[in-house]
Amino acid sequence: MTSLSHPDLDKTTVTKAYDRWAPVYDLVFGAVFERGRDAAIEAAERVGGRILEVGVGTGIALPQYPKNCTLCGIDISEQMLRKAHERVAEFELTNVEGLWVMDAEHLSFPDDSFDAVVAQYVVTTAPNPEATLDEFARVLKPGGEIILVSRVGAEAGLRRAVEHVLQPAVRKLGWRTEFSFERYVKWAAQTKGVRLVERRAMPPLGHFSLIRFTKDGGAEIVRPNFAPETYPAARAAS
Ligand SMILES: C[S@@+](CC[C@H](N)C(=O)[O-])C[C@H]1O[C@@H](n2cnc3c(N)ncnc32)[C@H](O)[C@@H]1O
Repeated sequence: MTSLSHPDLDKTTVTKAYDRWAPVYDLVFGAVFERGRDAAIEAAERVGGRILEVGVGTGIALPQYPKNCTLCGIDISEQMLRKAHERVAEFELTNVEGLWVMDAEHLSFPDDSFDAVVAQYVVTTAPNPEATLDEFARVLKPGGEIILVSRVGAEAGLRRAVEHVLQPAVRKLGWRTEFSFERYVKWAAQTKGVRLVERRAMPPLGHFSLIRFTKDGGAEIVRPNFAPETYPAARAAS
């Protein structure tokens, strides 16, 4: 549905960047993103069942899921995924159904395949974030949840200016510094059956957020618990 016609990141750059990060990724980003991962897994645990982790990377989060969840992981970087395979073997994770090299924007799973789709620190690295979210919604079962931990760019002020200046440099590392929460709100508002149900600030420095969406069709009615008055488009969407 919605996608950027001129992506500011390209897949080759992102793949090469993460292939290079793979040997040191856990050392550099293990602890710094831990709280966000914990929150995402806690949310996924409440859903349970069959879970797709998109951008599973080195598989750093896999051992944390409850053993009664069935896990599938995909990543665009072969080198990151190689580490994930090693981790599955090391921790004897028999609940991992499979790990595949796959592009998040073109998932080769049938519609309605998963109870939860989890993407931690991934959506803003995708060349077409909205098209990627469309895929998450497609493979999600009705009643399921999309659970993201994602960078949210500042709306204004000094941080916004710094992010704007840094963007060209960090693109080479496979990142986006500029990414407004408004884009998630708009995507949900324009995507049939999808509701934004939570935004919670996450460390470091609250620059990241846990963001949850549900797909209509389940029995549970979920009420938004983020502050809609802060987000005019969210108010319009709810
Ligand atoms: C910042 S890392 C996050 C890794 C892991 N989720 C974590 O919590 O540390 C982003 C991951 O997303 C993967 N990725 C980026 N774009 C992707 C895409 N289009 N399809 C699949 N994976 C992608 C990268 O290769 C990398 O492993």
